[in-house]
Amino acid sequence: MHTHTLVVLKGDGIGPEIIDAAIQVLAAVEAREQKFHFNFQFHPAGADYYRRSGTNLSPETFAACQQADAILKGPTGLPEVRKPDGTEAGLLGGVLRNGLNLYANIRPIRLFPEVSSALAGKQAGDIDYVIVRENTEGAYFSRGQGEVTEAGVRDIISITRAGTERIVRRAFDLARQRLGAPHDGIRRVTCVDKSNVLRGFALFRQIFLEIGEHYPDIEKHCLYADAAAQALVLWPERFSVIVCENFLGDILSDLGAATAGGLGFCGSANIGAQHAMFETTHGSAPALAGRNKANPLSAILTAAMMLEWLGEARAAERVMTAVESVCREKKVWIDADGCPVEGTRAVAEALCQAIADA
Ligand code: IPM
Ligand code: MN
Repeated sequence: MHTHTLVVLKGDGIGPEIIDAAIQVLAAVEAREQKFHFNFQFHPAGADYYRRSGTNLSPETFAACQQADAILKGPTGLPEVRKPDGTEAGLLGGVLRNGLNLYANIRPIRLFPEVSSALAGKQAGDIDYVIVRENTEGAYFSRGQGEVTEAGVRDIISITRAGTERIVRRAFDLARQRLGAPHDGIRRVTCVDKSNVLRGFALFRQIFLEIGEHYPDIEKHCLYADAAAQALVLWPERFSVIVCENFLGDILSDLGAATAGGLGFCGSANIGAQHAMFETTHGSAPALAGRNKANPLSAILTAAMMLEWLGEARAAERVMTAVESVCREKKVWIDADGCPVEGTRAVAEALCQAIADA
């Protein structure tokens, strides 16, 4: 039996309860498959840990992340825990995404059955695309190193040829594995940028078109980011794979999530050549923490992406099928605050039951 060693960073706020729900679901597929075994290694990290120790991630934990087969991470950060420069102390993007060179941030936007979209008239099947967000450069290249003077701060957007080539290839490779856009079934990659204004984005688009020549079977489509924000609301069914710079991907992935029931219904993967980290993309929602209110599906969908990456495609499929069935059977009714009405634990239990029964 194969063992997968996982570093688990439960994080702050609602992190522990939604990651516990994901672990419960992982245990259910482990029991169902009888083919692999998880070795969970729990490490503290984030804002609360910073408050206690003066660092948000210890060198030992980083080393464990480097050794692990994968990392499963909940939201980190608490609004009141700040570094002396005013930025949030609990965020681990720089240390993990850049530290492990996790250049591809894969963010599926998919509307599940019976989940209500912010867009009128949209149903499951209408919205099903993936945002491939560059994860190591772009505007967030400036993280922690903006040039500060009396007069203000100058942050730099860095778009490199190598960084763009690798993310664009990822996006085209992903488009080949997918069925195509819901609207017309065409395999398509949309490049989202502001190449009309900034030279870095002009390079991004140029490289997209260059690399695209090696993928004659995939349709190439380019959109300015402002127009893309409109198109994702008006015509989400035309998209299949979107590739974009870091900051644009950060914003557009939250916009996309809103059309698919909210961030509580979206998982994500941060993938590099050697390592991968799977994390929820929403905040730590401290007001909901410890109240059995948070939607655990973000963590569970994230865990399904991890299973896929670990080579456990059938187990990943079992989780996805269970998520579809509990949504279809309305076992995840969402209230006005975006919380499952019967609570976090009830959702996890319904999923475990669905996995056991399948
Ligand atoms: C995300 C988050 C992070 C980001 C924040 C918390 C630094 O919003 O994963 O999208 O901007 O990348
Ligand atoms: Mn974000």
